Amino acid sequence: MSILELRGLSYDYKTKAGAVHALKEATATFEKGVVYAIVGRSGSGKSTLMSLMAGLDVPKQGDIFYQSEDLRSFDRDRFRREHIGMIFQSYYLLPQLTAVENVELSLELAKYRGNKRKRAEEMLTLVGIKKEQFKKRSTQFSGGEQQRIAVARAIATDPDIILADEPTGNLDNENSMNVVKILVDLAHQYGKCVIIITHAAEVAERADIVLKMDDGILLTKG
Ligand SMILES: Nc1ncnc2c1ncn2[C@@H]1O[C@H](COP(=O)(O)OP(=O)(O)OP(=O)(O)O)[C@@H](O)[C@H]1O
Ligand SMILES: [Mg+2]
Repeated sequence: MSILELRGLSYDYKTKAGAVHALKEATATFEKGVVYAIVGRSGSGKSTLMSLMAGLDVPKQGDIFYQSEDLRSFDRDRFRREHIGMIFQSYYLLPQLTAVENVELSLELAKYRGNKRKRAEEMLTLVGIKKEQFKKRSTQFSGGEQQRIAVARAIATDPDIILADEPTGNLDNENSMNVVKILVDLAHQYGKCVIIITHAAEVAERADIVLKMDDGILLTKG
């Protein structure tokens, strides 16, 4: 059974200049344990697609199924909290908090019941942040480290779907590959469904399946 299925998803933005058809009948299925890359020109609709998959927005037309169940039957905020981990180009860590506090905060918001500090520390270790660094403020980390902390935050609640929008957009090649390796391991070793939006060919190459957005149309790349 696929974890996420999109059927005929369309989305328009209303602007003063008229409607922008950002997504045109997108259909796709996503499985656990697989890394997907979504590529395509700027403005082709990739982030729009991601916000629908995350339950941040609702399609104007079409359906999304999570484990064969219509997303409409879920409380969308709860769906996102329980099943989705998100990573962005700008890491969005809270600057006044330490690395470990940033991860703990997301556990707090998700009403995580276990030992939050312990879980946060485990996640930071998983992404390669050293124990001595846990209590350093997030602004004192390099970009690559900050993105790894953001990954730790995204996976702390153990979501089964990880959505990353240009996660390596601000990183050099070495740091990009470190982050991509973590994302690939999350799929291949931990069974997550990992979906990465990227402009970088070397990132897309690491995916198992590449999807292409072309002017709002979603295609599977051969
Ligand atoms: N809030 C908005 N209001 C109006 N139009 C929007 C809005 N957000 C996106 N669009 C338009 O919808 C289309 C798809 O945008 P989207 O952000 O999904 O593209 P993208 O593929 O993620 O691009 P990029 O690679 O630059 O991030 C574009 O034509 C864009 O201008
Ligand atoms: Mg985008």
